[in-house]
Amino acid sequence: MTLFRATVIDTPGDPFSVDPAGALSADQDGGLLVRDGIIVHRGSFGTLRTKFPDEPVTELRGGLLLPGFVDTHVHYPQLRAIGGLGMPLLDWLDRCALPEESKFADAGYAKIVAGEFLDGLIASGTTTALVFGAHFAAAMHELFTAAADRQLNITAGLVLSDRILRPDLFCTVEQGRSESQALIDRWHGGGRLRYAVTPRFSLSTTNQLLAVCGDLMRANKDVFFTSHINENLAEVATVAELFPESRDYLDTYHRHGLVNARSVYAHNVHASDKELALMGETGAWAAHCPTSNASLGSGLFPLRRHVEHGVGVSLGSDVGGGTGLFLLKEGLQAYFMQQLLGADGLPLTSVHLLYLATRAGARALGLADRVGDFAIGKEFDAVWLRPASGSPYSINLAHAVDATDALARTFALATSADVAGVWLKGDRVGAGR
Ligand code: GUN
Ligand code: ZN
Repeated sequence: MTLFRATVIDTPGDPFSVDPAGALSADQDGGLLVRDGIIVHRGSFGTLRTKFPDEPVTELRGGLLLPGFVDTHVHYPQLRAIGGLGMPLLDWLDRCALPEESKFADAGYAKIVAGEFLDGLIASGTTTALVFGAHFAAAMHELFTAAADRQLNITAGLVLSDRILRPDLFCTVEQGRSESQALIDRWHGGGRLRYAVTPRFSLSTTNQLLAVCGDLMRANKDVFFTSHINENLAEVATVAELFPESRDYLDTYHRHGLVNARSVYAHNVHASDKELALMGETGAWAAHCPTSNASLGSGLFPLRRHVEHGVGVSLGSDVGGGTGLFLLKEGLQAYFMQQLLGADGLPLTSVHLLYLATRAGARALGLADRVGDFAIGKEFDAVWLRPASGSPYSINLAHAVDATDALARTFALATSADVAGVWLKGDRVGAGR
Protein backbone atom coordinates (compact mmCIF):
# COMPACT_ATOMS: atom_id res chain seq x y z
CA MET A 1 0.00 0.00 0.00
CA THR A 2 1.06 3.61 -0.46
CA LEU A 3 0.00 6.61 1.59
CA PHE A 4 -0.10 9.74 -0.59
CA ARG A 5 0.31 13.05 1.24
CA ALA A 6 -0.91 16.12 -0.63
CA THR A 7 -3.35 18.98 -0.79
CA VAL A 8 -6.20 16.82 -2.05
CA ILE A 9 -9.15 18.42 -3.86
CA ASP A 10 -12.02 16.77 -5.73
CA THR A 11 -15.71 17.17 -6.50
CA PRO A 12 -17.62 14.16 -5.19
CA GLY A 13 -20.92 16.05 -5.69
CA ASP A 14 -22.54 17.96 -8.54
CA PRO A 15 -22.29 21.75 -8.26
CA PHE A 16 -24.97 22.10 -10.99
CA SER A 17 -27.56 20.21 -8.94
CA VAL A 18 -30.34 21.97 -7.03
CA ASP A 19 -28.49 21.17 -3.81
CA PRO A 20 -24.83 21.82 -4.57
CA ALA A 21 -23.73 21.41 -0.92
CA GLY A 22 -20.94 18.89 -0.65
CA ALA A 23 -19.86 19.37 -4.25
CA LEU A 24 -16.29 20.06 -3.15
CA SER A 25 -14.04 18.07 -0.88
CA ALA A 26 -10.64 19.42 0.14
CA ASP A 27 -7.88 18.58 2.60
CA GLN A 28 -4.99 21.00 2.90
CA ASP A 29 -2.79 18.25 4.38
CA GLY A 30 -4.66 15.24 3.09
CA GLY A 31 -3.93 11.54 2.88
CA LEU A 32 -5.04 8.86 0.45
CA LEU A 33 -4.18 5.25 1.12
CA VAL A 34 -4.00 3.25 -2.10
CA ARG A 35 -3.88 -0.54 -2.36
CA ASP A 36 -3.61 -2.32 -5.74
CA GLY A 37 -4.62 0.89 -7.50
CA ILE A 38 -7.76 1.42 -5.39
CA ILE A 39 -8.31 4.16 -2.79
CA VAL A 40 -8.97 2.33 0.50
CA HIS A 41 -8.79 5.21 3.02
CA ARG A 42 -9.05 8.95 2.83
CA GLY A 43 -8.67 11.65 5.45
CA SER A 44 -6.20 14.03 6.97
CA PHE A 45 -2.62 12.86 6.59
CA GLY A 46 -2.08 12.97 10.38
CA THR A 47 -5.01 10.67 11.09
CA LEU A 48 -4.07 8.19 8.38
CA ARG A 49 -0.43 8.19 9.45
CA THR A 50 -1.43 7.29 13.01
CA LYS A 51 -3.63 4.47 11.73
CA PHE A 52 -1.08 3.17 9.24
CA PRO A 53 2.35 3.99 10.69
CA ASP A 54 4.26 1.45 8.60
CA GLU A 55 3.00 2.22 5.09
CA PRO A 56 5.41 3.97 2.74
CA VAL A 57 4.54 7.63 2.19
CA THR A 58 4.68 9.43 -1.16
CA GLU A 59 5.09 13.12 -0.38
CA LEU A 60 3.31 15.36 -2.90
CA ARG A 61 3.28 18.61 -0.99
CA GLY A 62 3.44 21.95 -2.75
CA GLY A 63 0.71 22.26 -5.36
CA LEU A 64 -2.54 20.30 -5.65
CA LEU A 65 -3.47 16.66 -6.14
CA LEU A 66 -6.58 16.43 -8.34
CA PRO A 67 -8.45 13.52 -9.94
CA GLY A 68 -7.07 12.73 -13.41
CA PHE A 69 -8.82 14.86 -16.01
CA VAL A 70 -11.55 13.41 -18.23
CA ASP A 71 -11.64 14.66 -21.83
CA THR A 72 -14.92 13.65 -23.47
CA HIS A 73 -14.15 14.85 -26.99
CA VAL A 74 -10.69 14.70 -28.54
CA HIS A 75 -9.59 13.59 -32.03
CA TYR A 76 -6.62 11.23 -32.11
CA PRO A 77 -5.76 11.80 -35.81
CA GLN A 78 -5.72 15.57 -35.33
CA LEU A 79 -2.84 15.64 -32.83
CA ARG A 80 -0.59 17.02 -35.57
CA ALA A 81 -3.22 19.47 -36.85
CA ILE A 82 -3.56 21.88 -33.92
CA GLY A 83 -3.48 25.62 -34.54
CA GLY A 84 -5.26 26.05 -37.88
CA LEU A 85 -6.63 29.50 -37.15
CA GLY A 86 -8.96 31.76 -39.08
CA MET A 87 -11.43 29.33 -40.65
CA PRO A 88 -14.99 28.28 -39.88
CA LEU A 89 -15.70 24.58 -39.32
CA LEU A 90 -16.33 23.30 -42.84
CA ASP A 91 -13.32 25.11 -44.36
CA TRP A 92 -11.13 24.01 -41.48
CA LEU A 93 -12.17 20.39 -42.02
CA ASP A 94 -11.32 20.60 -45.74
CA ARG A 95 -8.05 22.44 -45.36
CA CYS A 96 -6.62 21.31 -42.01
CA ALA A 97 -8.21 18.27 -40.41
CA LEU A 98 -9.16 15.94 -43.22
CA PRO A 99 -5.88 16.03 -45.22
CA GLU A 100 -4.11 15.02 -42.01
CA GLU A 101 -6.68 12.30 -41.26
CA SER A 102 -6.11 10.77 -44.70
CA LYS A 103 -2.57 9.92 -43.63
CA PHE A 104 -3.96 7.37 -41.15
CA ALA A 105 -4.50 4.95 -44.03
CA ASP A 106 -0.86 4.13 -43.30
CA ALA A 107 -0.85 2.02 -40.10
CA GLY A 108 2.82 2.84 -39.50
CA TYR A 109 2.01 6.54 -39.43
CA ALA A 110 -1.00 5.87 -37.20
CA LYS A 111 1.14 3.93 -34.74
CA ILE A 112 3.56 6.83 -34.31
CA VAL A 113 0.81 9.40 -33.81
CA ALA A 114 -1.14 7.10 -31.46
CA GLY A 115 1.88 7.12 -29.14
CA GLU A 116 2.30 10.88 -29.45
CA PHE A 117 -1.38 11.41 -28.79
CA LEU A 118 -1.68 9.20 -25.71
CA ASP A 119 1.57 10.44 -24.22
CA GLY A 120 0.26 13.95 -24.85
CA LEU A 121 -2.91 13.15 -22.88
CA ILE A 122 -0.86 11.81 -19.97
CA ALA A 123 1.49 14.80 -20.01
CA SER A 124 -1.60 17.02 -19.79
CA GLY A 125 -2.98 15.13 -16.79
CA THR A 126 -5.77 13.44 -18.75
CA THR A 127 -6.31 9.87 -17.58
CA THR A 128 -9.71 9.11 -19.14
CA ALA A 129 -10.92 10.12 -22.61
CA LEU A 130 -13.64 9.60 -25.15
CA VAL A 131 -11.50 9.63 -28.26
CA PHE A 132 -12.84 10.40 -31.71
CA GLY A 133 -10.99 7.87 -33.82
CA ALA A 134 -9.67 7.54 -37.35
CA HIS A 135 -11.47 6.43 -40.51
CA PHE A 136 -9.22 3.36 -40.84
CA ALA A 137 -9.61 0.15 -38.81
CA ALA A 138 -5.86 -0.57 -38.69
CA ALA A 139 -5.29 2.90 -37.24
CA MET A 140 -7.84 2.09 -34.53
CA HIS A 141 -6.01 -1.12 -33.66
CA GLU A 142 -2.89 0.99 -33.17
CA LEU A 143 -4.74 3.37 -30.86
CA PHE A 144 -6.27 0.60 -28.73
CA THR A 145 -2.97 -1.29 -28.57
CA ALA A 146 -1.10 1.81 -27.41
CA ALA A 147 -3.84 2.71 -24.88
CA ALA A 148 -3.78 -0.82 -23.42
CA ASP A 149 0.01 -0.57 -23.00
CA ARG A 150 -0.44 2.64 -21.01
CA GLN A 151 -3.42 1.60 -18.80
CA LEU A 152 -5.33 4.70 -19.94
CA ASN A 153 -9.12 4.66 -19.68
CA ILE A 154 -10.05 5.07 -23.34
CA THR A 155 -13.41 4.83 -25.07
CA ALA A 156 -13.04 5.16 -28.84
CA GLY A 157 -14.34 3.99 -32.18
CA LEU A 158 -13.80 3.83 -35.91
CA VAL A 159 -15.11 7.00 -37.57
CA LEU A 160 -17.79 6.34 -40.19
CA SER A 161 -18.62 8.52 -43.20
CA ASP A 162 -19.95 7.78 -46.66
CA ARG A 163 -20.55 11.13 -48.31
CA ILE A 164 -19.42 14.75 -48.84
CA LEU A 165 -15.97 14.47 -47.19
CA ARG A 166 -12.88 13.41 -49.16
CA PRO A 167 -13.67 10.05 -50.80
CA ASP A 168 -10.58 8.36 -49.38
CA LEU A 169 -12.25 8.66 -45.96
CA PHE A 170 -15.47 6.92 -47.03
CA CYS A 171 -16.52 3.42 -46.07
CA THR A 172 -19.32 1.34 -47.50
CA VAL A 173 -22.28 0.55 -45.31
CA GLU A 174 -21.21 -3.10 -45.01
CA GLN A 175 -17.60 -2.20 -44.31
CA GLY A 176 -18.73 0.22 -41.59
CA ARG A 177 -20.74 -2.55 -39.97
CA SER A 178 -18.16 -5.34 -40.20
CA GLU A 179 -15.10 -3.29 -39.29
CA SER A 180 -16.85 -1.68 -36.30
CA GLN A 181 -18.08 -5.06 -35.07
CA ALA A 182 -14.62 -6.60 -35.40
CA LEU A 183 -13.13 -3.75 -33.35
CA ILE A 184 -15.86 -4.14 -30.71
CA ASP A 185 -15.19 -7.88 -30.50
CA ARG A 186 -11.45 -7.34 -30.17
CA TRP A 187 -11.29 -4.39 -27.77
CA HIS A 188 -14.55 -3.50 -26.03
CA GLY A 189 -14.44 -4.22 -22.30
CA GLY A 190 -10.82 -5.37 -22.29
CA GLY A 191 -8.93 -3.76 -19.40
CA ARG A 192 -9.75 -0.05 -19.37
CA LEU A 193 -10.87 0.10 -23.01
CA ARG A 194 -14.35 0.49 -24.40
CA TYR A 195 -15.89 1.07 -27.79
CA ALA A 196 -17.93 4.02 -29.06
CA VAL A 197 -19.89 3.81 -32.31
CA THR A 198 -18.77 6.98 -34.12
CA PRO A 199 -20.39 8.43 -37.24
CA ARG A 200 -18.47 11.63 -37.99
CA PHE A 201 -21.65 13.75 -38.16
CA SER A 202 -24.89 13.31 -40.03
CA LEU A 203 -23.69 15.78 -42.64
CA SER A 204 -21.22 13.15 -43.87
CA THR A 205 -23.26 10.04 -43.02
CA THR A 206 -26.25 8.68 -44.96
CA ASN A 207 -29.35 7.29 -43.30
CA GLN A 208 -28.18 3.81 -44.34
CA LEU A 209 -24.93 4.19 -42.43
CA LEU A 210 -26.65 5.79 -39.42
CA ALA A 211 -28.98 2.76 -39.42
CA VAL A 212 -25.89 0.54 -39.14
CA CYS A 213 -24.83 2.61 -36.11
CA GLY A 214 -28.22 1.90 -34.53
CA ASP A 215 -27.85 -1.82 -35.27
CA LEU A 216 -24.39 -1.84 -33.67
CA MET A 217 -25.72 -0.13 -30.55
CA ARG A 218 -28.56 -2.63 -30.22
CA ALA A 219 -26.35 -5.65 -30.90
CA ASN A 220 -23.67 -4.58 -28.40
CA LYS A 221 -25.60 -3.47 -25.36
CA ASP A 222 -23.04 -1.48 -23.41
CA VAL A 223 -21.03 0.23 -26.14
CA PHE A 224 -21.09 4.01 -26.30
CA PHE A 225 -22.06 6.42 -29.05
CA THR A 226 -20.51 9.71 -30.00
CA SER A 227 -20.78 12.24 -32.81
CA HIS A 228 -20.94 15.97 -33.54
CA ILE A 229 -24.05 18.12 -33.43
CA ASN A 230 -25.18 21.73 -33.82
CA GLU A 231 -21.66 23.12 -33.98
CA ASN A 232 -21.79 25.68 -36.76
CA LEU A 233 -24.70 27.47 -38.47
CA ALA A 234 -23.66 26.48 -42.02
CA GLU A 235 -23.36 22.86 -40.89
CA VAL A 236 -26.79 22.96 -39.22
CA ALA A 237 -28.37 24.41 -42.40
CA THR A 238 -26.75 21.73 -44.59
CA VAL A 239 -27.97 18.96 -42.31
CA ALA A 240 -31.51 20.39 -42.52
CA GLU A 241 -31.30 20.22 -46.35
CA LEU A 242 -29.87 16.68 -46.35
CA PHE A 243 -32.53 15.30 -43.97
CA PRO A 244 -35.84 16.94 -44.97
CA GLU A 245 -37.71 14.24 -43.08
CA SER A 246 -36.08 15.16 -39.75
CA ARG A 247 -37.49 17.91 -37.56
CA ASP A 248 -34.02 18.96 -36.33
CA TYR A 249 -30.39 17.87 -36.17
CA LEU A 250 -30.81 15.62 -33.13
CA ASP A 251 -33.66 13.84 -34.88
CA THR A 252 -31.28 12.65 -37.63
CA TYR A 253 -29.66 10.52 -34.90
CA HIS A 254 -32.77 9.85 -32.83
CA ARG A 255 -34.54 8.15 -35.75
CA HIS A 256 -31.86 5.48 -35.60
CA GLY A 257 -31.98 4.96 -31.82
CA LEU A 258 -28.79 6.93 -31.18
CA VAL A 259 -29.98 9.26 -28.43
CA ASN A 260 -29.70 7.67 -25.00
CA ALA A 261 -27.72 7.69 -21.77
CA ARG A 262 -24.69 6.21 -23.55
CA SER A 263 -24.54 9.01 -26.17
CA VAL A 264 -22.14 11.93 -25.96
CA TYR A 265 -22.71 14.74 -28.47
CA ALA A 266 -19.91 17.20 -29.07
CA HIS A 267 -20.59 20.97 -29.30
CA ASN A 268 -24.40 21.49 -29.34
CA VAL A 269 -23.86 25.25 -29.55
CA HIS A 270 -26.98 25.90 -31.64
CA ALA A 271 -29.40 23.53 -29.89
CA SER A 272 -33.14 24.13 -29.90
CA ASP A 273 -35.27 23.70 -26.78
CA LYS A 274 -36.87 20.62 -28.36
CA GLU A 275 -33.46 19.03 -28.83
CA LEU A 276 -32.41 19.87 -25.28
CA ALA A 277 -35.66 18.47 -23.92
CA LEU A 278 -35.03 15.15 -25.70
CA MET A 279 -31.45 14.99 -24.48
CA GLY A 280 -32.63 15.70 -20.94
CA GLU A 281 -35.34 13.01 -21.11
CA THR A 282 -33.05 10.37 -22.56
CA GLY A 283 -29.96 11.16 -20.47
CA ALA A 284 -27.76 11.99 -23.48
CA TRP A 285 -24.70 14.14 -22.68
CA ALA A 286 -23.19 17.20 -24.32
CA ALA A 287 -19.41 17.57 -24.54
CA HIS A 288 -18.69 21.29 -24.37
CA CYS A 289 -15.56 22.22 -26.35
CA PRO A 290 -14.95 25.88 -25.59
CA THR A 291 -11.54 26.60 -27.12
CA SER A 292 -12.65 24.96 -30.35
CA ASN A 293 -15.94 26.88 -30.34
CA ALA A 294 -14.01 30.11 -29.93
CA SER A 295 -11.22 29.29 -32.38
CA LEU A 296 -13.55 28.17 -35.20
CA GLY A 297 -15.99 30.97 -34.37
CA SER A 298 -18.72 28.38 -33.82
CA GLY A 299 -20.51 30.28 -31.07
CA LEU A 300 -21.18 30.64 -27.35
CA PHE A 301 -22.36 27.42 -25.69
CA PRO A 302 -25.80 27.78 -24.04
CA LEU A 303 -24.82 26.10 -20.77
CA ARG A 304 -27.70 27.56 -18.78
CA ARG A 305 -30.26 26.09 -21.18
CA HIS A 306 -28.57 22.68 -21.01
CA VAL A 307 -28.69 22.72 -17.21
CA GLU A 308 -32.31 23.95 -17.19
CA HIS A 309 -33.28 21.02 -19.43
CA GLY A 310 -31.42 18.56 -17.22
CA VAL A 311 -28.77 17.79 -19.85
CA GLY A 312 -25.44 16.62 -18.44
CA VAL A 313 -22.46 18.63 -19.68
CA SER A 314 -18.82 17.55 -19.67
CA LEU A 315 -15.69 19.06 -21.26
CA GLY A 316 -13.83 18.24 -24.45
CA SER A 317 -10.59 19.65 -25.79
CA ASP A 318 -11.68 18.89 -29.38
CA VAL A 319 -8.06 18.79 -30.51
CA GLY A 320 -7.25 19.76 -33.27
CA GLY A 321 -10.17 22.29 -33.54
CA GLY A 322 -9.35 23.02 -29.90
CA THR A 323 -6.04 24.59 -29.02
CA GLY A 324 -4.42 21.90 -26.87
CA LEU A 325 -4.90 18.86 -24.65
CA PHE A 326 -4.77 20.60 -21.26
CA LEU A 327 -8.27 20.37 -19.90
CA LEU A 328 -7.91 23.17 -17.34
CA LYS A 329 -7.55 25.56 -20.27
CA GLU A 330 -10.94 24.30 -21.50
CA GLY A 331 -12.34 24.95 -18.03
CA LEU A 332 -11.08 28.53 -18.06
CA GLN A 333 -12.40 29.09 -21.59
CA ALA A 334 -15.79 27.66 -20.53
CA TYR A 335 -15.83 30.24 -17.74
CA PHE A 336 -14.94 33.05 -20.22
CA MET A 337 -17.72 32.05 -22.61
CA GLN A 338 -20.35 32.16 -19.88
CA GLN A 339 -19.10 35.58 -18.83
CA LEU A 340 -19.43 36.81 -22.42
CA LEU A 341 -23.01 35.56 -22.61
CA GLY A 342 -24.00 38.16 -20.02
CA ALA A 343 -27.50 37.59 -18.67
CA ASP A 344 -27.86 34.38 -20.74
CA GLY A 345 -24.67 32.93 -19.29
CA LEU A 346 -24.29 30.68 -16.27
CA PRO A 347 -21.66 32.15 -13.96
CA LEU A 348 -19.20 29.39 -13.14
CA THR A 349 -17.18 28.98 -9.95
CA SER A 350 -13.89 27.12 -9.74
CA VAL A 351 -15.82 24.20 -8.21
CA HIS A 352 -17.97 23.96 -11.36
CA LEU A 353 -14.81 24.02 -13.44
CA LEU A 354 -13.14 21.17 -11.54
CA TYR A 355 -16.33 19.14 -11.71
CA LEU A 356 -16.56 19.72 -15.48
CA ALA A 357 -12.94 18.63 -15.96
CA THR A 358 -13.24 15.46 -13.84
CA ARG A 359 -16.40 13.93 -12.43
CA ALA A 360 -18.80 15.21 -15.10
CA GLY A 361 -16.76 13.41 -17.75
CA ALA A 362 -16.64 10.23 -15.69
CA ARG A 363 -20.44 10.39 -15.42
CA ALA A 364 -20.84 11.03 -19.14
CA LEU A 365 -18.78 7.92 -19.88
CA GLY A 366 -20.57 5.72 -17.34
CA LEU A 367 -17.38 5.48 -15.27
CA ALA A 368 -18.36 7.50 -12.20
CA ASP A 369 -18.26 4.39 -10.02
CA ARG A 370 -14.58 3.94 -10.92
CA VAL A 371 -12.90 7.30 -11.61
CA GLY A 372 -13.50 11.07 -11.54
CA ASP A 373 -13.01 11.71 -7.80
CA PHE A 374 -11.13 10.35 -4.81
CA ALA A 375 -13.92 8.52 -2.99
CA ILE A 376 -13.00 5.29 -1.22
CA GLY A 377 -13.31 2.37 -3.63
CA LYS A 378 -12.35 4.41 -6.72
CA GLU A 379 -9.31 3.74 -8.87
CA PHE A 380 -6.45 6.08 -8.08
CA ASP A 381 -6.12 8.14 -11.28
CA ALA A 382 -4.57 11.44 -10.29
CA VAL A 383 -2.69 14.49 -11.45
CA TRP A 384 -0.29 16.44 -9.30
CA LEU A 385 0.07 20.09 -10.25
CA ARG A 386 3.14 21.67 -8.72
CA PRO A 387 4.14 25.12 -9.96
CA ALA A 388 7.75 26.07 -10.45
CA SER A 389 8.88 27.96 -7.38
CA GLY A 390 8.72 31.72 -7.77
CA SER A 391 6.31 31.51 -10.73
CA PRO A 392 3.14 33.63 -10.68
CA TYR A 393 1.12 30.41 -10.24
CA SER A 394 3.22 29.39 -7.24
CA ILE A 395 2.88 32.85 -5.67
CA ASN A 396 -0.87 32.90 -6.22
CA LEU A 397 -1.32 29.42 -4.80
CA ALA A 398 0.59 30.46 -1.69
CA HIS A 399 -1.79 33.40 -1.25
CA ALA A 400 -5.03 31.47 -1.78
CA VAL A 401 -7.37 31.77 1.19
CA ASP A 402 -9.15 28.43 0.75
CA ALA A 403 -9.57 25.49 -1.62
CA THR A 404 -12.04 27.29 -3.91
CA ASP A 405 -9.63 30.18 -4.22
CA ALA A 406 -6.69 27.83 -4.86
CA LEU A 407 -8.68 26.14 -7.61
CA ALA A 408 -9.63 29.46 -9.21
CA ARG A 409 -5.99 30.54 -9.29
CA THR A 410 -5.12 27.13 -10.73
CA PHE A 411 -7.62 27.45 -13.58
CA ALA A 412 -6.34 30.95 -14.27
CA LEU A 413 -2.63 30.15 -14.23
CA ALA A 414 -1.76 26.45 -14.50
CA THR A 415 -0.43 25.01 -17.74
CA SER A 416 0.64 21.51 -18.69
CA ALA A 417 4.19 22.53 -17.68
CA ASP A 418 2.89 22.41 -14.09
CA VAL A 419 1.95 18.72 -14.33
CA ALA A 420 4.50 17.16 -12.00
CA GLY A 421 3.08 13.65 -11.82
CA VAL A 422 0.28 11.47 -13.18
CA TRP A 423 -1.01 8.17 -11.76
CA LEU A 424 -3.08 5.55 -13.53
CA LYS A 425 -4.66 2.96 -11.23
CA GLY A 426 -2.02 3.71 -8.62
CA ASP A 427 0.99 3.55 -10.96
CA ARG A 428 3.00 6.66 -11.69
CA VAL A 429 3.28 7.18 -15.45
CA GLY A 430 4.98 9.60 -17.83
CA ALA A 431 8.11 11.58 -17.23
CA GLY A 432 6.82 14.01 -14.57
CA ARG A 433 9.18 16.60 -13.12
N1 GUN B 1 -17.56 17.96 -37.29
C1 GUN B 1 -17.25 16.90 -38.05
N2 GUN B 1 -15.95 16.59 -37.94
C2 GUN B 1 -15.43 17.46 -37.06
C3 GUN B 1 -14.12 17.64 -36.52
O1 GUN B 1 -13.18 16.92 -36.82
N3 GUN B 1 -13.98 18.66 -35.64
C4 GUN B 1 -15.00 19.46 -35.26
N4 GUN B 1 -14.78 20.42 -34.39
N5 GUN B 1 -16.23 19.31 -35.76
C5 GUN B 1 -16.44 18.32 -36.64
ZN1 ZN C 1 -14.76 17.15 -32.80
